[in-house]
Amino acid sequence: PQDVADSEFYVTYNYIKERLPAELSQPKVAIICGSGLGGLADTIDETKCKKVEFKYEDIPGFVTSTVQGHVSKLVFGLLGKNQTPTVCMVGRYHFYEGHSLKQVTLPVRIFKLLGVEVLIVTNASGALNKDFRVGKVAVLTDHISLPGLAGNNPLFGPNLGMFGPRFPPMTDVYDYDLRVLAFKAASSLKFDEGTLKEAIYCFVGGPSYETKAEARFLRTIGGDIVGMSTVPEVIVARHSGIRVLGLSLVTNMVALRKDKSADPSASVIEEPEEPPPKHEEVLEVSKARAHDMQNLVKTIVGLI
Ligand code: 6GU
Repeated sequence: PQDVADSEFYVTYNYIKERLPAELSQPKVAIICGSGLGGLADTIDETKCKKVEFKYEDIPGFVTSTVQGHVSKLVFGLLGKNQTPTVCMVGRYHFYEGHSLKQVTLPVRIFKLLGVEVLIVTNASGALNKDFRVGKVAVLTDHISLPGLAGNNPLFGPNLGMFGPRFPPMTDVYDYDLRVLAFKAASSLKFDEGTLKEAIYCFVGGPSYETKAEARFLRTIGGDIVGMSTVPEVIVARHSGIRVLGLSLVTNMVALRKDKSADPSASVIEEPEEPPPKHEEVLEVSKARAHDMQNLVKTIVGLI
């Protein structure tokens, strides 16, 4: 269409579109794979159609992502029992890398132009809510965007009317029907009862982890889990009417308790405190749970 041809996204869109076979040129589902979950793209079935990969560095308009231990590529292929045309983003952009939110969310704009109707976002997070455990999968019901509330919203600037309205609602940001499918998929995979749990995700800018006082603040304002990604992409997806499912792997419990005090009159708590979070630990848990996460996402895609 003419508005696409006239838009700033055309060069990127056209580069990808031109290189896709007809079977893959209108992906229905896009999946953003978080840390350690990129193996999903390797489970794409190639019997009917070979997958097509694009390294970010080769796509005009895409910037090179810098997170260590992450491959960065778009993979187009047929996924799940219905052979759903899908695009997987293996490796995402993070705001803390120094990219603008426009750069972080460019892939979602391109997904929309290609015809994507459903976005599945995955990430790793720390749990603020003590009812969570490491290895559990949070199904996002809502989010709190701290950077967004303070002016860092990916929709900041002139509205791109070809995608959506100036003031898009975020009331039903995470699609109810897709959440139901997530629970159905988990039960059909015979996941242990309680492996999936609904949660409110707090987006923080990073890259430093929260202080204990900050973590208590996030818990107090209603957050169950906290992480450094996902929300910008989700906002841009909702702006253009893409339905969104958010899945977050809990990789660590966040330390919340007040620090021990030098004040002799302060109460002393004897139990051990959660250790400080470590990126290596986040990657380790992601790796250990990657297989289940991939099966879950693939089964959900088969139910859409
Ligand atoms: Cl504890 N905090 C943040 N901000 N992001 C995380 C995390 C913690 N664990 C995994 N990702």
